[in-house]
Amino acid sequence: METAVKLARQYQVDRGKHMKFKVISRWTSYHGNTLGALALSGHTGRRRYYQPLIQHTPHIVLPAYCYRCPFGLKPESCQLECADDLEKTILYEGPDSVSAFMAEPVVGATAGALVPKNGYFQRIREICNRYDVLLIVDEVMTGIGRTGRNFAIEHWGVAPDMIVGAKGLGAGYYPIFAVITTEDVHEAIKNGNGNFVHGHTYSQNPLACATGIAVLDYIDRHDLVARSAKMGSYLLEKLKILYRHSMVGDVRGLGLFAGVEFVRRRETRETFGPALKVNALVGNLAFDKGLIVYPGGGGADGVNGDHILIAPPSSSRQDRSMSWWPSLTRPSRRRNVPLHA
Ligand SMILES: Cc1ncc(COP(=O)(O)O)c(C=O)c1O
Repeated sequence: METAVKLARQYQVDRGKHMKFKVISRWTSYHGNTLGALALSGHTGRRRYYQPLIQHTPHIVLPAYCYRCPFGLKPESCQLECADDLEKTILYEGPDSVSAFMAEPVVGATAGALVPKNGYFQRIREICNRYDVLLIVDEVMTGIGRTGRNFAIEHWGVAPDMIVGAKGLGAGYYPIFAVITTEDVHEAIKNGNGNFVHGHTYSQNPLACATGIAVLDYIDRHDLVARSAKMGSYLLEKLKILYRHSMVGDVRGLGLFAGVEFVRRRETRETFGPALKVNALVGNLAFDKGLIVYPGGGGADGVNGDHILIAPPSSSRQDRSMSWWPSLTRPSRRRNVPLHA
């Protein structure tokens, strides 16, 4: 994510917009644990210890969180106020100083698969265009087919200026990420400095790249993006059975990327206190039964709220060449899932 932030900044400088440096992000978001990415993240629990080290960057109020609309609206009365909050923030910050806006198309770790209302990202794109601000989408979790499209942002027909993909590119096992950008950004840097002034010891690592190519090839051959869409609808339909439990407040998702939010009282959407560690309890119980989920907390207000993410493999059991290995398909030892808030 920091590579994208730096690429955006160099783009602005190389085309003569020296004043544009701020990156606006959202509360209830996660973009990474290194200090720059943590500054942009809106995850209270992960920021708390490091707060004095974190650079202050502007955050808009919340992602599109319809279950807990920050404006107290119902879907029928919603005019995408949460998207318009970006415009207000750009105006407060000064459009001449804003380089980019960064968001997860479907929020992952911090709230459990928050799918925005139709029109949200289209509005965000319009606002970014109006103020000459780059749109960076964080598809570290949602990219490479997870939601039933190559990239989740495609669900809304929006073309961002940068996409960051990672987890799925290495099939969740091998460390590799990619920042994908437009010809416009590429040309500006080519005609400006000529080089992107950035890099790491293991950038362009041949083994990682070979793994990424093999994964993409596998996904193509097995048509896993379409499978993710198909199995995702099935998963969501079946997960709705969980509503029979009064502690299940909301079930949501897109493709094979689903979330379940837990509440003390469904009528009031009241949360359990963080001390109860409800998300970790559910995570551990699921693990005991052979299901790996991703527990998280703090979605409701940074501190309160419990959810799990459910993101099963997009390949079928028969496809996976190592499915004969019992420990991979059914974990046998209990583990303690840490509380993520
Ligand atoms: C949406 C999202 N963005 C960014 C990151 C950070 O990726 P990394 O840990 O590779 O820096 C994560 C990691 O979980 C993530 O889920």
